Amino acid sequence: MAAKKQEKSMDKTSSNVGGPSPWVYVLMLFLVYWGINYLDGNSGGFNAKVYAPHKNATAVANLKVQKSPEDLAFEDGARVYRGICAACHQPNGKGSDNAGYPPLAGSEWVLTESPDRVIAIINNGLQGPIEVAGKTYGQVAMPAQGGALSDEDIANVMSYIRRNSDWGDGHNYSIITAEQVSEVRAKIADRTSAWTAEELINQFPDSQ
Ligand code: HEC
Repeated sequence: MAAKKQEKSMDKTSSNVGGPSPWVYVLMLFLVYWGINYLDGNSGGFNAKVYAPHKNATAVANLKVQKSPEDLAFEDGARVYRGICAACHQPNGKGSDNAGYPPLAGSEWVLTESPDRVIAIINNGLQGPIEVAGKTYGQVAMPAQGGALSDEDIANVMSYIRRNSDWGDGHNYSIITAEQVSEVRAKIADRTSAWTAEELINQFPDSQ
């Protein structure tokens, strides 16, 4: 009887010890849950490429870097150049003396204020002889490229070859617009054969 009494009083004591109320655990669980959710939504999945103030990878991907019209023209021109011109004039613009492809890097034909002659060359092609950077070329002709290229393509590829600073300090001319190309093309619309260097100089006496 005495033992039973004691047991009872121990029970009583243990519930009075004053440990945390069960609600504290519930609250803690809730906080952990909220914390996990918060991290999920704001930590970018712990992706090293996501950092403040961006919350996740989508926010970073949606960031639009504003590119200038010059940069856009240059980038598109690089695409046209790689696709067409680089086969002969080489990716580095140095051409190939052995094959008869003159350089565009440092070429006095490319580095002129007026783009007219080069627009005409791209449009109709060129047959030698032509002197470029102190050497005479003419073993092979350049085929007309105009058929495959829009005014914008020609404008952009010209912007690329005139502004490619990797090709030398002189390559810092302003960009060419599709309107400039369209004007020159309209003037030479009747022309079907490739130009000679002499004809280009006569046709566009002011380009230098
Ligand atoms: C199939 C080879 C070939 C392709 C493709 C080609 N060219 Fe040419 N290009 C030549 C050759 C060859 C000459 C020199 C022709 C001559 O000797 O009369 C030349 C000459 C030139 C010239 C004048 C000379 C100089 O070196 O400055 C320019 C400018 C030029 N090309 C630009 C271009 C551009 C821009 C493209 C691309 C849209 C292009 N070419 C595509 C072969 C090519």
